[in-house]
Amino acid sequence: VTLKDAYAGKFYIGTALNERQIAGKSEEEMELVKKQFNAIVAENCMKSERIHPKEDTYNFALPDKFVAFGEENGMWINGHTLIWHSQAPAWFFEDDQGNTVSREVLIARMKDHIHKVVGRYKGRVHTWDVVNEAVLDNGELRKSKFYEIIGEDYLKLAFQFAREADPEAELYYNDYSTAIPEKRAGIIRLVKKLQDEGITVDGIGMQGHVGLDGPAIEELEKTILAFSGIGAKVMITELDLTVLPSPWERTGAEVSADFKYSKEMDPYAEGLTDSIKRQFDERYTHLFRLFLKHSDKITRVTFWGVNDGNSWRNNWPVRGRTDYPLLFDRNNHPKPVVDALIQMT
Ligand code: XIL
Repeated sequence: VTLKDAYAGKFYIGTALNERQIAGKSEEEMELVKKQFNAIVAENCMKSERIHPKEDTYNFALPDKFVAFGEENGMWINGHTLIWHSQAPAWFFEDDQGNTVSREVLIARMKDHIHKVVGRYKGRVHTWDVVNEAVLDNGELRKSKFYEIIGEDYLKLAFQFAREADPEAELYYNDYSTAIPEKRAGIIRLVKKLQDEGITVDGIGMQGHVGLDGPAIEELEKTILAFSGIGAKVMITELDLTVLPSPWERTGAEVSADFKYSKEMDPYAEGLTDSIKRQFDERYTHLFRLFLKHSDKITRVTFWGVNDGNSWRNNWPVRGRTDYPLLFDRNNHPKPVVDALIQMT
């Protein structure tokens, strides 16, 4: 029994695919993906700076391969992500002289971008993360360039353009740290406002970049209930569980821009202790117990990477660490917790 089989009928078990994997350069990892997962998302290649680096240039080669792989293997395909302040190309917001574009121009560019990308995969990509990370931890809207230039309407417009381009696709709002009460409330406010304006937000993605100590299961549960309570499907979209302490916890200070992590500061450079392995297993077990409890509300649980070697957590929040946040190790071997998760269903 594999993960996807064990969880069939509860929710999809997904993974992000990186550009190397999509390009077909990681045979072994892709075999693992076919065996264990039934949903996919592109880690980077559909982000605007990659898929639309210049106004007249679209890079569809990798996204096409990504979608074809999902179709060949009967997988649920999520598009990530249309409107995000990060990994967006500078040209989007500037004219030829480098001046900030007008509201009208930015709206027209958003429309072109969304129509072109969503339209290309109409009827093939099942769901889209239409807007990513528009709310701050304090619940206020992020003052991104989209917000500054267009105003709050950019949120409504993004969903409208996506709906026009593919009326059948499910459209999602996606964000991190959704268990913070103020942020949870801010996201609810945003989605309700969109609903009042006649926009259907089909689902809300909880990214799920978690640690051993937090966020608390109780707070995650409140978020699942609150999102589902306003009629949205809930999905865990970017699950990984770092075992490394944040550097600011170790240094007792904020990380400055020139902060460099050194191997001497890596507590698990020689490998993980038994105690950490135990905490890791327990934490994943608790998370999945919560997801199973709410499997009537949760449609998908997607890991942010196939194996530990793929994980962005090796380079975030600081570069050059060795992290162990996923279910499969650097040799694609399942960790013991995989069996525990399978037995739980
Ligand atoms: C990350 C990727 O994993 C990295 O490879 C990339 O350098 C930066 O972005 N929230 C998101 C994801 O929605 O798209 C981010 O992915 C992680 C945080």
